[in-house]
Amino acid sequence: MNNKPILFGGSSHSNLARQVCEELNTNLGRIVLNQFPDEEINVQILEEVRGADVYVLQSIVGDPSRCLMELLIMIDALKRASAKSITAVIPYLGYCRQDRQNKPGVPITAKLVANMLTAAGMTHLITFDLHADQVEGFFDVPVNHSHCQKLLSDSAKRFLGEDCIVVAPDIGSIKIAESMAKLLNAELAVIKKKRLNSFDVSMTLIGEVNKKNVLIVDDLCSTAGTLVAASYLCKEQGAQTVIAAVTHGLLVGEAIQKIEASPIEIFLMTDTIEPRAMLPPRFQVVSVAAHIAATIRI
Ligand code: R5P
Repeated sequence: MNNKPILFGGSSHSNLARQVCEELNTNLGRIVLNQFPDEEINVQILEEVRGADVYVLQSIVGDPSRCLMELLIMIDALKRASAKSITAVIPYLGYCRQDRQNKPGVPITAKLVANMLTAAGMTHLITFDLHADQVEGFFDVPVNHSHCQKLLSDSAKRFLGEDCIVVAPDIGSIKIAESMAKLLNAELAVIKKKRLNSFDVSMTLIGEVNKKNVLIVDDLCSTAGTLVAASYLCKEQGAQTVIAAVTHGLLVGEAIQKIEASPIEIFLMTDTIEPRAMLPPRFQVVSVAAHIAATIRI
């Protein structure tokens, strides 16, 4: 019987798992993550977990299908080793952007992923800034859904001058932009995106950014198309400086180069996704490790 929580790290973000353990003053649970010659995933838990509260940290990103499968297999192994509870700590829950049927013939992948995790044996979930709050309800187990706007706004304060305004780069990001504006006691502006054809979108800024220090906020940055276009629009409308802040820095393809070439002077992101080594200096990373540790301690 084990009364101490034990944390295991999947292969997507072992650095964050280690940092959380440092915060908790404990060691990572021993586990073998391997694959068979045909690339099927093979896992072996090397700790005694019978009767223990266990935590498995894995972001679903990079090679999302592989990360998800590895997480499911780890959970299954822990369940079969008689862990008392199994909390999945999924800082970035990939596959969750498809959360409704917006046209005929499409899946609700977020619900499918929720079903798979609970079927495997997950008893609780800890995650950050889901693409839509309603995804929480797809899980039939307790969900601890944290928001990173406080963490990011504390960091943004170091770079923002007086007279700042928070900009939501599309209608979907209004809620987090509103919360950021409240934390910074700043005004709010919104960009309305309209699709003209398969390739072109028009962007209209609702609000006044002239001579102001702009903070553009979004839940995630993937190709950086949205943030970079928003930054040019703000500059065209007279913004003094432009900073961007996102929770999940996916930064796929040429995203880093696009940001480097754009008016975005500082790019703040958290480490819900393992940040690439050697990011250019304008990229500043804020860690969620202490927050995860505090949630585990409760
Ligand atoms: C959209 O709903 C999201 O909040 C982001 O704005 C979007 O996914 C960002 O994607 P990208 O960086 O590729 O423009």
